[in-house]
Amino acid sequence: MASYSKGLEGVIAAETKMSYIDGEKGVLEYVGIPIGQLAEFSTFEETVFLLWNTRLPRKGELADFSAKIRALYELPAEIQAMIGQLPKDAQPMHVMRTLVSALGMYDAKPNATDVPTVREKALKILACAPAMLAYFHRHRQGKPFVKPDANMGFAENFLYMLNGAKPTAAMVKALDVCLVLHTDHGLNNSTFSARVVISTMSDIYSAITAAIGSLRGPLHGGANEGVMIMLNEIPTVEAAEKYVHDKLAKKDKIMGFGHRVYKAYDPRASHLKVLAKQLAHDTGNMALYEKSSRIEKVMSEAVAAKGIYPNVDFYSATTYHCIGLPLDLFTPMFVLSRIGGWSGHVIEQLSDNRLFRPDVDYKGPHGVAYTPMDQR
Ligand code: SDX
Repeated sequence: MASYSKGLEGVIAAETKMSYIDGEKGVLEYVGIPIGQLAEFSTFEETVFLLWNTRLPRKGELADFSAKIRALYELPAEIQAMIGQLPKDAQPMHVMRTLVSALGMYDAKPNATDVPTVREKALKILACAPAMLAYFHRHRQGKPFVKPDANMGFAENFLYMLNGAKPTAAMVKALDVCLVLHTDHGLNNSTFSARVVISTMSDIYSAITAAIGSLRGPLHGGANEGVMIMLNEIPTVEAAEKYVHDKLAKKDKIMGFGHRVYKAYDPRASHLKVLAKQLAHDTGNMALYEKSSRIEKVMSEAVAAKGIYPNVDFYSATTYHCIGLPLDLFTPMFVLSRIGGWSGHVIEQLSDNRLFRPDVDYKGPHGVAYTPMDQR
C-alpha cells in the first residue's frame, strides 16, 4: 500500500500539458508561456484556445474560436425562465452550480464522452456562463435581462449584460486580465473534482457542477470574498496591523494568503497587485489598496518566513471591487474563468482516462460480533 498523505499533499494524481507551477520559485506557465506575458499580451479567448489546443492560435483560428463563443452567448429560453423563478436572495455560487447542472437537461446528448463532442459542450458552458450570472444579478435587482451582444468579446459582453451599459476599455482590459490569470492552475481542488467525476465516464455537466461546488469553499475560490469582507471590517489603514495580529494570535487564517503549492509570492498576485493599484487610483479607492498593502506588510513580517505570501485571491478582491462587481460575484468570476481550465482537464482526462479510486487506511476494529438489539 502507498503511504498516506493527508489532503493528498505532495501526491501526483494526474499529468497535464496545460499549466506548470513551480511553488518554490513562484512560477506559473500556461503551455510553457509565463503567466505575466499572457496577462500583458493575450486575451481570455486566446488563453482558452491555448490551453485546449496546447498551442497559440493563428489569426484566423482565433477569429473562428471567438466567433464560435459569441454565437453561443445566449441561454436556452428554459434556463432564462428558470432564472426568473430563482429566489432573489439565492447565493450566486449556488445559482451557478444549479444552472450549469440544469443546462445539461436541454442538451440532446448530455452524456456524450467523445472528445470532439465534449469540446463543443465545454464551449457552450463557457460561452453562456456569463449570461447565467448576469441574468441572475438583473433578476435579483428586479431589472430586465440585458441580451448578449455578439459584437463584444467575453469580458466586455459580461460587463455589458451585468450593468446594462457598455463598459470602458480600461474595465474590459482589467477584467480580461483577471480572467486570464484565473483560467488554470494545476490540480487544485476544483480541477481535481472535475477530473474525479469525469473519470467514471460521467458527463461534463456533472464534472463542472462538482468543480463549482468545490470552488465555493473559503479555503479555495471563496477566499476572494473573504478578503473583501476582511477589508470592509478593518476601519482604517492604521487599524490593519492590530487586526492581523489579533487574527494570527487566534490561529485564524488571513484570507488571500498562503497556498498548498506556492511557498513564494503567487505570480498571479504580483500582476493583480499592480492592476489593483492602478484601478484603485483611477476609481478613488486608494484607501482599499493601502489597507491591502499594509496587511501584506504585516503578514510579510509575521509569516513570510513560513512561506505564507499573498495568493491570487488577495488583490483580486480590490480589483473586482474597483471594476464595480458586487462582493458576492467575486467567486463566480473565478467560475467564469476556471470553466476554461476545468474543461481542458476534463478533455485531458477523457483522452487518457483511468478511474480515480484511491485507497484508504482502515483504522477501525476487526472480527466484531453483531449484538442483538435487546443486548445493547
Ligand atoms: C486558491 O490549489 C490551488 O491552486 C488553488 C488556487 C487556484 O488557482 O485554484 O490557487 C486558488 O484556492 C488560493 C487559496 C485561497 N485560500 C485562501 O486564501 C484561504 C486562506 N489560506 C489558507 O486556508 C491556506 O493557506 C490554504 C488552504 C490555501 C493552504 O493551506 P495548507 O497547504 O493546507 O496549509 P496549512 O493550513 O496546513 O497551513 C500551514 C501553516 C499553519 O500554521 P502551523 O499550524 O504550521 O503553525 O501555515 C499557516 C497555518 O496556520 N497558514 C496561515 C495561512 N495559511 C496557512 N496562517 C494565517 N493565514 C493564512 N492564510
